[in-house]
Amino acid sequence: MQKISILYDDEKQIFHISNNKISYIMELKENTLLHRYWGHTLQYYTGCNCTEPVKRTFAASYNQQNPLFSLEIEPQEFSCPHQGDYREPSISVRQQNGCTIGRMKYQYYEITDTLHIPEGLPHIREMKQKAAKTLAIHFLDMVSNIKLILYYSIVEDSAVIIRSAQIINQGNQSVWIDRAFSTLIDTNYQKQQLITFYGTHQKEFRINRQEIQHGIFSIGSTRGASSPQYPPFAAICMPETTEHSGEVYAFQLIYSGNHCVSVERNQYNHLRVAMGINPEDFCWKLLPNESFQTPQAILIYSNMGLNGMSQEFHKLYTERLFPTQWAKQKRPILLNSWEMCYFDVSEQKMIDVIKQAAKIGFELVVLDDGWFGHRNNSKSSLGDWTVNTEKFPNGLTTLLKCAEENGIQFGIWFEPEMISPNSILMKSHSDWYMQMDGYTPLLSRNQLVLDLTQKEVQNYIIETLSNFIKQYPISYIKWDMNRHITDPNSLYLSQDSKGEFFHRYMLGLYHILQELTTQFPNILFENCSSGGGRFDAGMGFFMPQTWCSDNTDALDRQAIQYGASYLFPLSAITAHISAVPNHQTGRNVPFATRAAVASSANMGYELNILELSSEEKELIMTHLSEYKKEREFLFYGEFYRLCSPFTDGNCAWMIIDQEKTRAIIYYFIREYDVSALSYILKIPYVDCQKNYVEKNTNRYFTGEELIYAGIAINTIKGDFPVIILELNEKK
Ligand code: DGJ
Repeated sequence: MQKISILYDDEKQIFHISNNKISYIMELKENTLLHRYWGHTLQYYTGCNCTEPVKRTFAASYNQQNPLFSLEIEPQEFSCPHQGDYREPSISVRQQNGCTIGRMKYQYYEITDTLHIPEGLPHIREMKQKAAKTLAIHFLDMVSNIKLILYYSIVEDSAVIIRSAQIINQGNQSVWIDRAFSTLIDTNYQKQQLITFYGTHQKEFRINRQEIQHGIFSIGSTRGASSPQYPPFAAICMPETTEHSGEVYAFQLIYSGNHCVSVERNQYNHLRVAMGINPEDFCWKLLPNESFQTPQAILIYSNMGLNGMSQEFHKLYTERLFPTQWAKQKRPILLNSWEMCYFDVSEQKMIDVIKQAAKIGFELVVLDDGWFGHRNNSKSSLGDWTVNTEKFPNGLTTLLKCAEENGIQFGIWFEPEMISPNSILMKSHSDWYMQMDGYTPLLSRNQLVLDLTQKEVQNYIIETLSNFIKQYPISYIKWDMNRHITDPNSLYLSQDSKGEFFHRYMLGLYHILQELTTQFPNILFENCSSGGGRFDAGMGFFMPQTWCSDNTDALDRQAIQYGASYLFPLSAITAHISAVPNHQTGRNVPFATRAAVASSANMGYELNILELSSEEKELIMTHLSEYKKEREFLFYGEFYRLCSPFTDGNCAWMIIDQEKTRAIIYYFIREYDVSALSYILKIPYVDCQKNYVEKNTNRYFTGEELIYAGIAINTIKGDFPVIILELNEKK
């Protein structure tokens, strides 16, 4: 069997896209494209799951010669309004006469041995060693001469289909795109359930699993960022699907702005899932000869439960999304100044921090907010990216020299998309921020958002940061974004292009990131938006790691990281050990638990190392030297969730090497239960042919026992303890 294949059966008019893990099948009928199958690989498809056409009252016939064929009942791959399909459309284009276009007739298809790369947008990357293919299916509306191309890419050894759409104006008049989703899938409702995330600042990635009712359920963002409220992800699974088994169909958008996922169950129990740029606040004017490209949507299939889905996301993102030079690169253990100093940073303090950090064993010191302009609180200076010489009389030169002498790297915080009303930048460029004529723009965290649709503003950010980096050879940048968008308007967008603002903002941001990350490939960029406020695959294309949450409380972090791990590998999720009582929650979580939670992610610290007792210093030194030994195993092992803080009470996860010879299991007791004697933990991811010894207790288990019988975890009294099991293969 070929590693990947895209076949077209001329006689049956069937497209079959497949690799060793999945098949995706579509049929051309009446010049439209119907969805037939998506799931486990099929060697051959006979059309077994097609329903016979039935007469439905009120159904509009698409073709008078074939009156039973109606788009109302057919499972489609895209849908335009006013064509008899009353479900939510995925593509909607308006002509100058006010009519929407819709008779999109099939024209031809092309198959290439490459991935389709959407211009100006983050995307899944080509890999030299692994094959990829793309099917592009072309449709045309003959009246308006508007063309639609649907792209389907498949790659070797991944259960993924990468979809996007392109709309091309081949006519001689402008049109307006009101909706351009990246994907749409129709299937039958068979009691599937829907999983999405919800959340907020300091409480990201809450898992929401629900029954799918009749009607439309949708999540999305109109905040100008993918948001912690509803990140761009949805999964459809069977009621019996668990972390470890059952089917999952997952969707994620490679996009960081306004998005929407819509799930519709209609009167015939048809289920439609569509995803793309949020049509709210979106209207794109397309001039003759112009084209519009949607972001890519990732479609992942797993028949090994939610952990199976996550394995696919982790592998795909590590191999083909994150910047290639960083994806498998060991990350420095950093110490961040935020919870240590907040805005009260200075040269002397940072020199002391660098020296102490180097002695303890840190590898990178990050100077967070407060180092520039006159920034002593959140009320000023965003946009004025010059070092505050009252706090740092020698600029950063002394600090960089000190870092070099102490054998440690140095990094810095920026919030480049923002402007403070109280800044020098504002005095010279009062037309550079978002504003709506006649209205005073709303402040959030005392700041306004720069209008990244303007080329001049994009260039200002690129030049300012490049010059800074050339002057100060830093190793790391934390790219923050601490508010959502209001007053979404550019003074320079014409009236009939106002609806393009949000997407143009994203294109501007992606352009800036592309320029900077290409110019400085050796700088490690960390994504942040008040924590995980814009933790999405779009940002992941430029920045291999994200500050997952401003909430550093290790109990809360268990749930946050549990949710984030649905999509992102541990290398992408940064987690810091902070002081107790915790600054966000006041909780006193023991050091062992704080260390276990942070170590099962991309680990760093964020506490005052200048005020440590000698015991605390010793503790941290020991932790760092142990972590350094384990880092590669933890980073590149396979991560599996075992017990959910959302549904099981306690939380447990494990990391295991690919050969299944060694596993570390973290079992977090979230609340001591006086009636619980012990918990039985099944570990389905060890090798049932192997035997294991647990390092700390020297207990011996067969793989089979661990998988089927489970092991008893004795409960421990006290607040928020962790039990760590290390299983090593016994030969
Ligand atoms: C929000 C970030 O999430 C924090 O870590 C810190 O960098 C602050 N911004 C600084 O203003």
